[in-house]
Amino acid sequence: MKKYLMTGLTVLLTATTMSAQKLQSDNIDEVLKAMTLEEKAQLLVGGGNTSFVGSGAMMGSQKKLVPGAAGITVAIDRLGIPATVLCDGPAGVHIDRRRDNDPNDYAATGFPIGTCLASTWNTELVEQVGRAIGNETLEYGCDVILGPGLNLHRSPLCGRNFEYFSEDPVVTGLIGAAVTKGIQSQGVGVSAKHYAVNSQETARTKVDERLSQRALRELYLKGFEIVVRQSNPWTIMSAYNKVNGTYAQMHRDLLTTILRDEWGFQGIVMTDWIGKRDDMPVYKQVEAGNDLLMPGYPAQVEDIIAAVKGGQLDIKYVDICARRMLEYIVKTPHFRKYQYSKPDLKAHAQVTRQSSTEGMVLLRNEKLKMKDEKGAAPVLPMKNLKTVALFGVNSYDFMSGGLGSGCVNVPYVVDMVQGLKNVGIQTTPLLTEIYQNYVKYAKAKLKADKNPIMWFLDQGQPKLDEIEITDRCVAHELQEADAAIITIGRQAGEGMDRQIDGEFNLTQQEQDIIFRVSDQFRAAGKPVIVILNSGSVMETCSWRDRVDAILCVWQPGEEGGNSVADVLTGKANPSGKLTMTWPVAAADHPSTRNFPQNMDMYSYREMKGWGMPIPNEDFTNHEEGIYVGYRYFDTQGTQVAYPFGFGLSYTTFEMKDEKVKVKNDGVEVSVTVKNTGSAAGKEVAQVYVTAPKGNIDKPIHELKAFAKTRELKPGESQTLTMTIARRDLTSFDEAGSQWLGEAGAYTFAVGNSSRNLPLSATVQLKQYTEKTNNAAAPQQ
Ligand code: BGC
Repeated sequence: MKKYLMTGLTVLLTATTMSAQKLQSDNIDEVLKAMTLEEKAQLLVGGGNTSFVGSGAMMGSQKKLVPGAAGITVAIDRLGIPATVLCDGPAGVHIDRRRDNDPNDYAATGFPIGTCLASTWNTELVEQVGRAIGNETLEYGCDVILGPGLNLHRSPLCGRNFEYFSEDPVVTGLIGAAVTKGIQSQGVGVSAKHYAVNSQETARTKVDERLSQRALRELYLKGFEIVVRQSNPWTIMSAYNKVNGTYAQMHRDLLTTILRDEWGFQGIVMTDWIGKRDDMPVYKQVEAGNDLLMPGYPAQVEDIIAAVKGGQLDIKYVDICARRMLEYIVKTPHFRKYQYSKPDLKAHAQVTRQSSTEGMVLLRNEKLKMKDEKGAAPVLPMKNLKTVALFGVNSYDFMSGGLGSGCVNVPYVVDMVQGLKNVGIQTTPLLTEIYQNYVKYAKAKLKADKNPIMWFLDQGQPKLDEIEITDRCVAHELQEADAAIITIGRQAGEGMDRQIDGEFNLTQQEQDIIFRVSDQFRAAGKPVIVILNSGSVMETCSWRDRVDAILCVWQPGEEGGNSVADVLTGKANPSGKLTMTWPVAAADHPSTRNFPQNMDMYSYREMKGWGMPIPNEDFTNHEEGIYVGYRYFDTQGTQVAYPFGFGLSYTTFEMKDEKVKVKNDGVEVSVTVKNTGSAAGKEVAQVYVTAPKGNIDKPIHELKAFAKTRELKPGESQTLTMTIARRDLTSFDEAGSQWLGEAGAYTFAVGNSSRNLPLSATVQLKQYTEKTNNAAAPQQ
């Protein structure tokens, strides 16, 4: 520290002897020239450790600008360089609600989590959500929001899947680009994260993700590539993990060769929030193209200075990063001295309500068993419903979002009781009272019992234990209610992966609730509806036949209960589609063989004792390669619970008149969608392409485009047109380091899930190649 203060003093002395060139958007060259090495080094390191940057210090006289924000870049007053503020996301602005000596409440809108947003398959709507998120970022005094999360759902067990969009890179890329465009239209930036292959939370800061160049390029990088090419993100966050032997944050192939040289990325790369570590020398990160080290420690500034002075780090790399930092800073609201006021939270509540409604996926909607006379309608939407028995603790403690940095300090959460009440449906009084009292008790207990290492429980709403529901309780409720709704909640977050038992699968207690309620209610001809309030996939096959309807509502943001009520009553017709396969069992995913589970198993502990690298902790082998999600299940013809792209509606649609035209640089697919049912609704046309059999092994089909209709009235039609570039119909050919589209017949199948593709048309395409660098290859 002493040494550091000395460095600060030296900077002060050197700097004051130089003329103060103040930063403007058109004098970056001059400012760069005027900067001392110490100032440049400071610019590349965040101001996470505020002990140095006390007020009056030469560099970084900023105070905590936005309490609860994740980090800041450091001000250099001499050069007119302001501090900028980075706040967490992605489901809304994550900052503290309260500021010292300030009576205002800085609660931020809780928008739907990533999986819910993506399940809308509606890029216009997602862009609108992005605009609202961007506006709150701006009006709460931040410059960048740390999202969207673009990692793939390699496994249904990854703890952060809720923040990510899909198992498919095209959905990830197109939804990610839409939200980025929306956010950045407000004059603030995004940080698309975590680049790349951050597919597990267990041991995320050390695990080496080992995978083929093909899987890397076609799957794990593809979403980032689409976002970079289509929406020009201000910043990208490098991942904690290694990729093929090198930490992502010091991986020059990833951060420079691919990201900048090939894709043309113009913004800055920042690290994920990690301290100084001996196995991540700072000079290697700078050399690789990591412009900003976050959250930033004074020792890292010293390291940069020492590395330049000691000849380990060429000053040209520092200059490159410092220039990019200045280019970033001149775009920010803090540089513009933007006078922020207050976002319109009421308007944003409407945006979140509408978008979460559209992201909900109706998985099951049966006709009632007892009353199943000919022509009887499915149980949903429920008309004329007066009283509901509401089971499951999350009906009363509805989860708006996930845990960890991705949570939002929301002003309120509409639970199921309130949501139903708002549309005139009562809940049975005794059950409601029991659960509401229990929730109060369980929350207090959780707080009292909290293990200090469970820091993340303060970051969001942890899942409370269920209570036992007896047959007598169900019998009592049956007398008063017209229907039973059971909410099954799941919580997950940063730093932990999910377990199969009790997280992917139901707990025994949850199964008991479903079976007991189902036995009595269905025998009495009263419907049983399950609401899945979960950020990720769950097991459904062992219990779904016991219930009449299942609505997956994800973690839909602060308006959750209202959105659920809108769908249950038919005010909104569900049009969400799954962006990941729901398998029969978690182990059906080939990735499960190489995914952390039961890490404290005896054999692992023993290996640790021997000092051997632990599989799925020190390294994770992607044996499945490109066969992730539906690419595997559909190619193998494996039975699944619900396929990728699936989601029911209250109406029916017909897709017809598919046309595929070959254009110079690609293919244009059009299809007409007609509402053939009796309710207004929206439908998603999904285009899956089967490539000709050639030298490259290919999945049976891959999603290459999608489009959603507007709301179609019964009988109404809309023609949707989608374009697919020729380069997007290629595979990555490792031997030739190129994108290769083989010549031959390409089939374009269209439908509303990967397993329901009524239309198909075939066209001949010539060979296409595009050279790339031989980058990020696995180590021998
Ligand atoms: C997370 C990032 C987050 C950062 C700042 C990290 O632990 O991985 O997603 O943006 O913290 O809070």
